[in-house]
Amino acid sequence: MNICIVGAGYVGLVTGACFADLGHKVICVDNDRKKIEALKKLKMPFYEKGLHDMVKRNVKAKRLSFSSRIEEGVKKSIVIFICVGTPPRPSGEADLSSIEHVATEVARNLSSYCIVVEKSTVPVKTGKWVEHTIKLNARKKVKFDVASNPEFLREGTAIDDFLHPDRIVIGVESKKAEKILLDLYKGIDAEVVVTDIKSAELIKHASNSFLATKISFINSVANICERTGANIAEVAHGMGLDTRIGKSFLRSGIGYGGFCFPKDLDAFIHISGKLGYDFGILKAARKVNEEQKALFVRKIEEALWIVKAKTVGILGLAFKPNTDDMRFAPSIDIIDSLKENGAKIKVYDPQAMEKARGVLKGVTFCKDPYEAAMNSDALAIVTEWHEFEVMDLDRIKKLMKKPLVVDGRNIFDPQRMKEMGFEYISIGR
Ligand code: UDX
Repeated sequence: MNICIVGAGYVGLVTGACFADLGHKVICVDNDRKKIEALKKLKMPFYEKGLHDMVKRNVKAKRLSFSSRIEEGVKKSIVIFICVGTPPRPSGEADLSSIEHVATEVARNLSSYCIVVEKSTVPVKTGKWVEHTIKLNARKKVKFDVASNPEFLREGTAIDDFLHPDRIVIGVESKKAEKILLDLYKGIDAEVVVTDIKSAELIKHASNSFLATKISFINSVANICERTGANIAEVAHGMGLDTRIGKSFLRSGIGYGGFCFPKDLDAFIHISGKLGYDFGILKAARKVNEEQKALFVRKIEEALWIVKAKTVGILGLAFKPNTDDMRFAPSIDIIDSLKENGAKIKVYDPQAMEKARGVLKGVTFCKDPYEAAMNSDALAIVTEWHEFEVMDLDRIKKLMKKPLVVDGRNIFDPQRMKEMGFEYISIGR
């Protein structure tokens, strides 16, 4: 099938590469010419495991190409995926201007039947606006369908998530669109949920909001553990064995970050309010997430007593391991607070150093965890990279001014750390 992907970001590029790998002919379009030129030279705009090889393979096989001209993609394709960003406005509302722009451009270049599919995360009822915008701007009277096909891939495991999803959600309002989209996904073995467009849009917002709430819930329980001497790892394990609750997303820590959860929660709260419903649970989940970062900073500061002029080594900057993504990373707020209170900051991340240089000012960038630990009064674990789990703790201890480790991701065993002579503080245990 000939398909066009508009927006070569995380979702768009992974989707395009995977569809090409399944045998479809894909053209990825983006109005960022530099990005497209780089992609033509097989340079990826971000790090994602396996993506470079997959793109290279499919470009070579002539199943995947790149263009900065949307008309080129629209004219050739039967399915057009909108994968552009929906960033948050200061109010939390999703900014849908890129979606409107793409819908307008698609409309102007329509020449034969196609399906315009929203893959970006959008508030419920966006599909209706996309349909309206295309009708308003179409130059010819051409039949088209709008559909919603939300993407659930996670950064770091994006390709595997795309090719082996828990479910595929297809929101359609015509049998023809349903059949074409089902055919498109034929190579993927997963349960398919076919529903109306509004329900599909809601499945995405509700899923991400539910997962974020689950994290805030376990973080709240961790706070009770700290007040009582219970152990959050044991509590989460005991809870997770109940299949109705499930084991995943019960890791307590410094809270969620990244470009999806914070923004989707805000957007869902906002659209709910607009629809006349005050989504209190989500507001509470958001508040807990903010407090969790502040609590972590407080733990470091209490252990240091006087923060001014002390050095804190930060291990991990990306919002989670196996990505270089710094967007809404908890590390940013944590470092800002520590700096505000006079601490000197040394940082290290296995992948995110380049992106971090653009975001973090007034910190010392280190080449490895040992350099970050050298002469530090405290070492804070902010992202749970495997590299930190296996580092030489004896060496770390010798390098530090004071052997204090504040672990925001619970990667070490408290007993072992104590035996090794560390002052060790973690979350909920
Ligand atoms: C998320 C959704 O999982 C995905 O379905 C959607 O398409 C995009 O948003 P992603 O942002 O890549 O994916 O990250 P994810 O692995 O889900 O983690 C999100 C955040 O939650 C991270 O900051 C992570 O550290 C945190 N988290 C996750 C916890 O704090 N505890 C957990 O138990 C799980």
